[in-house]
This record gives sequence, C-alpha cells and structure tokens, in this order.
Amino acid sequence: MGRVSVTVVDHPLAATMVRSLRDHRTPPALFRVVAKRLSLVLALEATRSLPTRPLGVETPLAEADGRALDVALVAVPILRAGLGMLEAVTELLPELAVGYIGLERDEATFEPSAYYTKLPDMAGAWVLLLDPMLATGGSAAAAASALAREHPAHITLLSVVAAPEGIERLSRQHPEVDIVTAAVDKGLNDRAYIVPGLGDFGDRLFGT
Ligand code: PRP
Ligand code: URA
Repeated sequence: MGRVSVTVVDHPLAATMVRSLRDHRTPPALFRVVAKRLSLVLALEATRSLPTRPLGVETPLAEADGRALDVALVAVPILRAGLGMLEAVTELLPELAVGYIGLERDEATFEPSAYYTKLPDMAGAWVLLLDPMLATGGSAAAAASALAREHPAHITLLSVVAAPEGIERLSRQHPEVDIVTAAVDKGLNDRAYIVPGLGDFGDRLFGT
C-alpha cells in the first residue's frame, strides 16, 4: 500500500448522522438533509490544512490580524451520489469552481465506466472529490486519474462510508489522494456493496 492518509471524523454529531443515513427507514427527503449536514462536517475536516496568507482587516475600532485563503478551490462530485454532498461544499466555499465526473459501476465486473466529464481549470488548485461510498475504490481511483491529468496541487476524497478494500485500492493507485470519511466498515459483500453500509446511496438520495 502507498502512503495512507485516512482521516475518520470523530465527532458525536457525525456519528448520529451516519446512524440516520444507515437506517433503512430513513426516507429520501430526510436522507438528503442529513447527507448535506454530514457533508459540511466532512468539508470542514477536509479543509483543515488549506493554505492561507496573512491579510489584515480593519474592525470598527482598530486594525486586526487576519488570514485569507491562498489557493484556488475546486469541488468535483462523482455523479450521481456525489451530488448529495455538493450543496454543503458550495455553501461553505462559495468561491470554488465545480467540475463533474459521471461514473457508473458495471453490475458484473464492478468496474466503473465514465459517461460524462466536465472539469474546470484546476492546475495548482485544491480539489475536493465528492463520493459518499468508497466500496471497491474503482470509481474513486478512476476519478482521481482524471483529476491528476489536470495537475491539481492537492486532492482530498470526501466519503461518508468507506470499505477497507476501497481504502487499500485508492491508496495503492493514488497515494497522493487524502481520504476523509465518516466511517470505515467491515468490508464488501458478493455484490460489492459495503457491509453494513447504508445500501445504494444514489437510490436512497434520489428515491430510485
Ligand atoms: C456508487 C457510488 C460510488 C461507487 C462506489 O455509484 O456512488 O460512485 O458506486 O463504488 P466503487 O468504490 O466500487 O467504485 P454507482 O455506480 O452506483 O452510481 P450512482 O451514484 O449513479 O448510483
Ligand atoms: N455504491 C453504493 O451506493 N453503496 C455501496 O455499498 C457500494 C457502492
């Protein structure tokens, strides 16, 4: 395995939100709300070491020290499920650019195929790759390959639930990608679903 940088968010609110998403009774309307809230927590963790530069500010009373972001930011949701994480990230970081990668897993081989890619200029940028489920790792690795061709400075994958198999594959194929997740589960079943997981994130998000 390559360099492993996996952060599992350790926060009581994140834990209650993961439980709610796992619950098979959670309907799509609530699932969407909780997915967005949890994505905000993941985004805060993923941006913990964003580069900043000193930039003073004048308060109504005096001058104060301050800091400003010192890097371009890009968010890239993997369609469809990553869309459930996008709004939280654009609200937190309104200045970021957004790209899209559409991937679908083959039901027999579990390998992803790309059906849509639209990426902004991201040379030197910090990229937040959004995909809630890191299962075999095939989708995240394919997306990371597409991003790497654009020469970003840094890529962080934001995931809700990760399987050890996916972490291992992504770390091996793309050791430069940091992973921030809310849970690491036991493993995959024979259909490459995460167990216990939360089922099909895209279906639960969009009610399909
Ligand atoms: C799901 C999920 C991830 C991928 C993870 O997408 O949203 O993108 O599977 O699996 P992997 O780690 O084994 O590649 P899916 O192909 O079901 O498409 P969808 O988001 O459109 O439902
Ligand atoms: N994609 C999902 O939505 N869920 C899984 O458990 C695996 C892949």
